[in-house]
Amino acid sequence: MTADIRVIAHRGASEDAPEHTLAAYRKALQDGADGLECDVRLTADGHLVCVHDRRVNRTSNGRGAVSTMELAQLAELDFGSWKDPSGVAAESPDSLDPEHTTVLTLERLLRLVSDAGRPVDLAIETKHPTRWAGQVEERLLELLGRYPLPGPVRVMSFSARSLQRVRAAAPHVPTVYLMHFLLPRYRSGRLPVGIPVAGPSIRLLRRTPEYVARAHRAGHEVHVWTVDDPSDVELCARLGVDALITNRPRTVREQLDRL
Ligand code: G3P
Ligand code: CA
Repeated sequence: MTADIRVIAHRGASEDAPEHTLAAYRKALQDGADGLECDVRLTADGHLVCVHDRRVNRTSNGRGAVSTMELAQLAELDFGSWKDPSGVAAESPDSLDPEHTTVLTLERLLRLVSDAGRPVDLAIETKHPTRWAGQVEERLLELLGRYPLPGPVRVMSFSARSLQRVRAAAPHVPTVYLMHFLLPRYRSGRLPVGIPVAGPSIRLLRRTPEYVARAHRAGHEVHVWTVDDPSDVELCARLGVDALITNRPRTVREQLDRL
């Protein structure tokens, strides 16, 4: 049933708005996304911010690694105007809206989800957590404890060690094991101990579509990323995945509803 497939907005509605900004997440909610995906990184002064890359160079007008900067320094940067290389948006009132340009803290995103007025899935990815030896997960769980949300919250990572740390400290928080490719030991559909959800890339599924049935037989849900192309949406619907993570939640929802 395509209606049962959850549509999760990757970095917000990031096709339309600058990724990981409050504007991108608000747009995703307006577009009817069932859930929101974000990447989190720790600043030098211990705040979790929603930034994908190790450095701020691609998505802001600054330079440097997130881990070496304090939140106040990040807050001075413009995280929105890069999305409009022509510079037209930089002159429009919208681009001056701090929701389009300001670095987003995880705490602010949790407040948005908590005020959404409906249950919203939240999928939080820990980026390069090994560098911080547990601090990312610790801070994340502490924030989740402070903001009980109406919808499910999952922690995702390419690092099984990061997910095991989450499981040890908070066994009630479901985890998603992200995969670019299938290690031989996981080809059968099994996952590292205690991880309930498989998170294969769409490329992996194009190569190995039978993986979905195997993971389901092993008792796991399958959440696929990053699914923007209509032919990939169709493939995922045919395979019966449980969730699609996409940069264009409205278009994907509409396509699923037509299938
Ligand atoms: O949702 C998982 C996906 O976001 C992983 O890749 O590089 O976009 O964080 P990336
Ligand atoms: Ca991610």
